[in-house]
Amino acid sequence: MADPRIDRERMAASARKLRENTRPGEDRGCRIVITGKGGVGKTTITALLAHMFARNGFTTLAVDEDPQMNLPYALGIPRNESDRIIPLTKNLDYIEEKTGARPGAGWGLMLTLNPDVSDVVERFGAKTPGGVNLLVMGTVEQAATGCLCPENTLLEAVIRYINLREDEVILMDTPAGVEHFGRTIARGFDQALVITDPTFSAVQVAGHAASLAKELGIRWVWLVINRVRSENDIRKVRELLGTAMDLFSGEFFLPYDENVIACEPDVRPVLSGASPFIENLMTLQASLEDPGIAPGDNSSV
Ligand SMILES: Nc1ncnc2c1ncn2[C@@H]1O[C@H](COP(=O)(O)OP(=O)(O)OP(=O)(O)O)[C@@H](O)[C@H]1O
Ligand SMILES: [Mg+2]
Repeated sequence: MADPRIDRERMAASARKLRENTRPGEDRGCRIVITGKGGVGKTTITALLAHMFARNGFTTLAVDEDPQMNLPYALGIPRNESDRIIPLTKNLDYIEEKTGARPGAGWGLMLTLNPDVSDVVERFGAKTPGGVNLLVMGTVEQAATGCLCPENTLLEAVIRYINLREDEVILMDTPAGVEHFGRTIARGFDQALVITDPTFSAVQVAGHAASLAKELGIRWVWLVINRVRSENDIRKVRELLGTAMDLFSGEFFLPYDENVIACEPDVRPVLSGASPFIENLMTLQASLEDPGIAPGDNSSV
């Protein structure tokens, strides 16, 4: 069996090489990271937005940074097929070969080509039903270290290395909490979706995530209040956040919807129906597409 320690060293080396040799080009697409407390709806919302962007003609790359890897199922990849997805962290030989990250090896053509989404997906990713491209970071070999550093660094390097055209978007689902939401990840993104539900602990995490995102220089930080059942829920979240509300570029709410649970893990049936949940999600998607324009007011239940 491969030594996980050596793999992690290789990951770190590959990431370093990639970073050193990435030449940022004219990047005009959207880079959106999704964060929040455990169970607030990050994966569900990432998958739905990814399908919406794809439906609107965007070349869409959904990235699963969560080692639990739920995003493939949420996007509609059947279980037997998801086993065949090779995570980025298991692709080290390939990455090294393609990027020349092997010690002493020269840099190949790849890095001079300003790779786009399709290029990277062809090398590392998978296609989901509905035309969304998927990149999976992978599980972490060492249990209970609490540190995903080399894995994250590698993922960040690969993401930054993609040049986005105007009609391209990257949406990244992250693990629960803010522990992994550090500088490494923030560097690659210009919008953050901070998801919360109307519970005290989720709002605490959302406030923390928002100030981190701001600190790390993410330009647009959006608040998404999910599983809303009444105006009171929205009021409660705003009150709990207090002055931290100022950190957000805009707020959105998504109603509690039984249908979301009934369909899970695959979100696609939710998309095909009309519901206040989907309507509000469409408003959110439109704002993400054009973040410079003030978000629509969807604050009435
Ligand atoms: N608006 C909603 N109404 C009802 N149920 C919802 C809503 N949004 C999400 N859910 C349900 O909440 C559960 C948790 O959602 P999800 O897995 O997307 O959360 P998560 O933040 O990704 O969790 P984790 O932190 O464990 O990765 C799922 O069963 C999902 O179907
Ligand atoms: Mg999740």
